[in-house]
Amino acid sequence: MTSQESAPNLTVQAEDPLEGLLLEDKSQFKTCSQIGFYRRQKLLHPDQSPYLAQLDTLKTENGIATLNIIHQRTKVPLQLQVIAVEGNIVRLKIKELSPLKPRYEVPDVLVKEPTTEREPAETDIKVQPDKSEDVFGLWKEKFGDFVDIKAHGPSSVGLDFTLHGFENVYGLPEHADIHCLKDTGENEAYRLYNLDVYGYCVYDKMGTYGSVPLLLAHKPSYTCGIFWLNASETLVEIHSKAALQSHLQSNSPDIRKQKAVPKMDIRWMSESGIVDVFLLLGPMPQNVFNQYAQLTGTQILPPLFSLGYHQCRWNYEDEADVEAVDSGFDEHNIPYDVFWLDIEHTDGKRYFTWDPDRFPDPVKMQNKLREKRRKLVVISDPHIKVDPNYTLYAEANERGYFVKDREMQNFEGSCWPGVSSYIDFTNPAAREWYSSQFSLDKYKNATDILFVWNDMNEPSVFDAPEMTMPKDAVHHQGWEHRDLHNLYGFYQQMSTSDGLIQRSGGKERPFVLTRSFFAGSQRYGAVWTGDNKAEWKYLKISVPMLLSLSVTGIAFCGADVGGFVGDPDPELLVRWYQAGSFQPFFRGHAMQGTKRREPWLFGEENTLLIRKAIKERYTLLPYWYLLFYRAYRTAELVMRPLWVEFSKYQDAFALESQYMLGNALLVAPVLDPGVKSIDVLFPGTGEYWYDFRTYTLVKGPHRQKVAVTLEEIPVFQRGGSIIPMRTAVGKSTAWMGSSPYELHVALDRKGLAVGELYVDDGYSLQYLHEHMYSHRRFTFSKNVLRSSSADKEGRYTVDCILEKVYIIGLKKSPSKVTAHCSGGKKTMEFTYNNQLCLLSLENLSLQVCADWEIHIA
Ligand code: GLC
Repeated sequence: MTSQESAPNLTVQAEDPLEGLLLEDKSQFKTCSQIGFYRRQKLLHPDQSPYLAQLDTLKTENGIATLNIIHQRTKVPLQLQVIAVEGNIVRLKIKELSPLKPRYEVPDVLVKEPTTEREPAETDIKVQPDKSEDVFGLWKEKFGDFVDIKAHGPSSVGLDFTLHGFENVYGLPEHADIHCLKDTGENEAYRLYNLDVYGYCVYDKMGTYGSVPLLLAHKPSYTCGIFWLNASETLVEIHSKAALQSHLQSNSPDIRKQKAVPKMDIRWMSESGIVDVFLLLGPMPQNVFNQYAQLTGTQILPPLFSLGYHQCRWNYEDEADVEAVDSGFDEHNIPYDVFWLDIEHTDGKRYFTWDPDRFPDPVKMQNKLREKRRKLVVISDPHIKVDPNYTLYAEANERGYFVKDREMQNFEGSCWPGVSSYIDFTNPAAREWYSSQFSLDKYKNATDILFVWNDMNEPSVFDAPEMTMPKDAVHHQGWEHRDLHNLYGFYQQMSTSDGLIQRSGGKERPFVLTRSFFAGSQRYGAVWTGDNKAEWKYLKISVPMLLSLSVTGIAFCGADVGGFVGDPDPELLVRWYQAGSFQPFFRGHAMQGTKRREPWLFGEENTLLIRKAIKERYTLLPYWYLLFYRAYRTAELVMRPLWVEFSKYQDAFALESQYMLGNALLVAPVLDPGVKSIDVLFPGTGEYWYDFRTYTLVKGPHRQKVAVTLEEIPVFQRGGSIIPMRTAVGKSTAWMGSSPYELHVALDRKGLAVGELYVDDGYSLQYLHEHMYSHRRFTFSKNVLRSSSADKEGRYTVDCILEKVYIIGLKKSPSKVTAHCSGGKKTMEFTYNNQLCLLSLENLSLQVCADWEIHIA
């Protein structure tokens, strides 16, 4: 195997940051064969392990089995621990018995050290160091003009797994690739290495902005997961159907006759650290999500405003621009919640400051937004302009909070402000200091409606190898950047999120969007998929990308609506709004230099369509909020691939053009131009699916062409579900606090349905500490719709009425409908549509959070 060390050295001017950035150009990034530890790991054949288990060393103590493993040639001893963790999880740890230098063990990602229920590895391939021709990159590794000096020598770890009977694996974000992961072929692997990949290639295995080293395997009878807790550069090879081939190729007729069983071989390889792997043993998809959440936590419950629509652009120019765009939404009757300011709002890209000419009175600007009951998000990147007169720089420098280079000087690299140093977020003291910068007495001209966006935190360094921090940079406690690279963004978001909580005296929920992430980032906020392009293929890839994030715990995720780079044509923009309104994080964003694209700039008919898409999002907010509550409480997915919901239905296993929102809505976005119909799979034997807008029924399992117009994307409600909605939308979520509710009750073939509603104040942490929430359950059975409490601990009440109920799939017209509540019994008016089997009750005034019953006679 040879290395092709031909990557050009990137030169990007800080003054003209866009010059030199190439779209869909992979030459700035390494291929697998340019990665030294990958070449070394490839020398190890899975069936010819040089490691020998020394069974006489096996002992068990406190539920942990320990065993020594020895490399047969180098005699380097390793220790394997097998730990049964409660909840059907097995942890394998392999480390050197007596390392020359301690190896990095990932801190802070696990929510706590797992409780026990009552490492076969390659570490240090000791290829003889021949420093004259180091083709395996043992001591130093070149990439273009960059040289990575490995002061501690080679240290990679790896482990092979075989998954018998499996053909479908998922997870491992972030890649701009299909949801059901591919066989990686001979010399390729899914790369987990957080990189700033502007205008990334689609259908590609290269690493992008974040990493979650969790792979899920699924077959009809069983689901399991492999969580590889390592924060260094990681590569994962996937080989499928090997068993099938070896059976067919066998010389023995007996073996050929055996039924070939599929299998998947998975090889994990990381550049440094230890082997620390959790086997999540399912057996159902939801069990795996719970097991993973037990280890890394669930999605933080977002403030309600952040589930509304966000308006962003690089950049909104000045205060007048902000005011005009904000008013534009009202003039065009389009709701939105959050206005975003990108890097140009600062004084020379010095975060936590304001450009004095463009934003002379930021408090007034925020107060105007506050009057409209909207919020502001500003960007705060991890690179800090090297400028002794910039307080943030001077303080961090004095306190020693910057990452160091290998000479132990502040590491300096180029990013938006020019020469910058990078806060060492792995240092708890630096994190605490950074958190404190968000307090309102420190952050000049910030108010409590200001929330935060962490960008460029892979970290992005324009003049460094692969546009990120060199691996030999040095962090807190002397760890090399190579050991923890994939954790950098995780820590920045953690620190920002803590800062916002502290700012409010521990009372309010934070909102922080991050570009880079790791396992556990769900505890700190939202993630978006970075610099996509205004092209149809990027709209299309957003769905599998978000599904892959969702199955690895990151529920609050989205893609830039409209596409960041370039100018979308109106049809693409409309389709993107329609798709985005059914994705968790819903933000329009555009790059500097693109044409303005506020929703009303494309002619009346397109304004109408975009307005309709955004308004539909707002009417559905009670359902979105419930899904996020369930994600936070029970690790259920908000955006669900079909295999999760229909785990035995093989036709759905590789499907990524449609998905479920919660368990009740089937969403089939239009992802191609000029489309008159799309193919929709209605899964589930005996399932009923009702068109969300027209109520027409389709029975599953069934594949059908569904006609589409530009008006909307196909969405279907599953029979058996009850969806809570609002009857009307306001200028933002805060205007909708008292708007009435409606319930969409879709009956299954047995005439039953269930659903829930979750309500709290939408912004504070009182739901957490003081049970200030109301969680309701709705059931429809034997022609009675009943509202009862789903959680007796909830103490919150809202004075909000349930105005409308639609019962879909009711076979015959009732003679009488009565409502029973604490105030007594009342006969209700109703209409019944024979053709649609639809009963409409439109003048109810029941308390939405109270106990009541509606009887249909
Ligand atoms: C990066 C971000 C993008 C942002 C830009 C300027 O490219 O991904 O969203 O607008 O930086 O801050």
